[in-house]
Amino acid sequence: MVVQLKEGVYWVGVVDWALRHFHGHELSTHRGSSYNSYLIVDEKTVLVDTVWGPFQNQLIKNIAELVDPSKIDIVVANHAESDHSGSLPGVMRHTPNATLIVSPRGKESIEGHYHQQWNFKTVKTGDRVNIGKNELVFVEAPMLHWPDSMFTYLAGANILMPNDAFGQHYAAAFLFNDQVDQTELYEEALKYYANILTPFSAMVTKKIDEVLALNLPVDMIAPSHGIIWRKDPLQIVTKYQEWASQNPEQSAVILYDTMWEGTRQMAEAIGEGIAAEGVQYKLFHVGLSDRNDVLTEIFKAKAVIVGSPTLNQGLLPTIRPILEDLRGMKFQNKVGAAFGSYGWSGEGVGIIEDHLKLCKIPVVAEGVKAKWQPKQEDLSLCCELGHKVAKAVKGEAV
Ligand code: FEO
Repeated sequence: MVVQLKEGVYWVGVVDWALRHFHGHELSTHRGSSYNSYLIVDEKTVLVDTVWGPFQNQLIKNIAELVDPSKIDIVVANHAESDHSGSLPGVMRHTPNATLIVSPRGKESIEGHYHQQWNFKTVKTGDRVNIGKNELVFVEAPMLHWPDSMFTYLAGANILMPNDAFGQHYAAAFLFNDQVDQTELYEEALKYYANILTPFSAMVTKKIDEVLALNLPVDMIAPSHGIIWRKDPLQIVTKYQEWASQNPEQSAVILYDTMWEGTRQMAEAIGEGIAAEGVQYKLFHVGLSDRNDVLTEIFKAKAVIVGSPTLNQGLLPTIRPILEDLRGMKFQNKVGAAFGSYGWSGEGVGIIEDHLKLCKIPVVAEGVKAKWQPKQEDLSLCCELGHKVAKAVKGEAV
């Protein structure tokens, strides 16, 4: 399938309806994804990004509906990750003398992936390549989300192709933002930001400011995953500015796992305390929940409260992955607290509190430990912890 964006500019990508996990199993993709590749037919023929390797034949077939793939003059690889560069070897076999445009770090990473001596041309921010009626303009975008990441702006057609930025893992029957369910679209755009771009939020803000200062007319933003923004295209830029500010809503997330339901009872008592203060909360049994969905909820919330029983003087292994994410995501402007039951030694709560501090999430209420099954007084302490965290969420003295 081929879709025209504007005269001479086409989507030649692939919709991957079946994808349920990305980056191996690191990221869940409940609604599939797409790998967006764009063909520009001007005096020069240009392909911007390819698709994941298993879909190489589909990409070549799509291109061939418009032009002979051997006639491609220029290939732009905005980013080396395999979902966008995986079909480069197949494309370059058709057009081995094409110029392959990359950022300086892109050359390093593309060479590292494919070990080929292609006809590389490295570009820096502000470099331009005339292709006829249109001009390619390049903007390096390091850490959005790899050091090699780059945006390509098509001057003339006024289309920004920012690769992963502004994308979503969202397979849909139609390609443009005005043609799809807005709730689904924004759920996926937020999940994408929260799980992929959060650690780089400061750079997101800086890059957006830099691009907006160029005053380029933008008729469309065409990312490398999901939907193309053509109706009010800057709406997603405004959203990114909001998300990058990491100004969470006044709500809390409680995460826990439990062996014999003691820690679960504590989690629920904490929730009662939070709600009694008029603050929204969500409660997740992490062993039974999708990690990326929980991370999205943490991204939105002001407070994160983590509970685990003590096991072998440590935590339940099911809690560990999301704690590692809390560290890696570098969430800002959050508050935290810990709780958990234990039988013998009871180190769990202290380990969680130390970890929250490591994540620069201040602990705003003393953790609650309950020996064996929680007694009423333990649950009362949990409820009190909920009150304290909720007050911190509201900005009141604890
Ligand atoms: Fe960083 Fe869509 O790959």
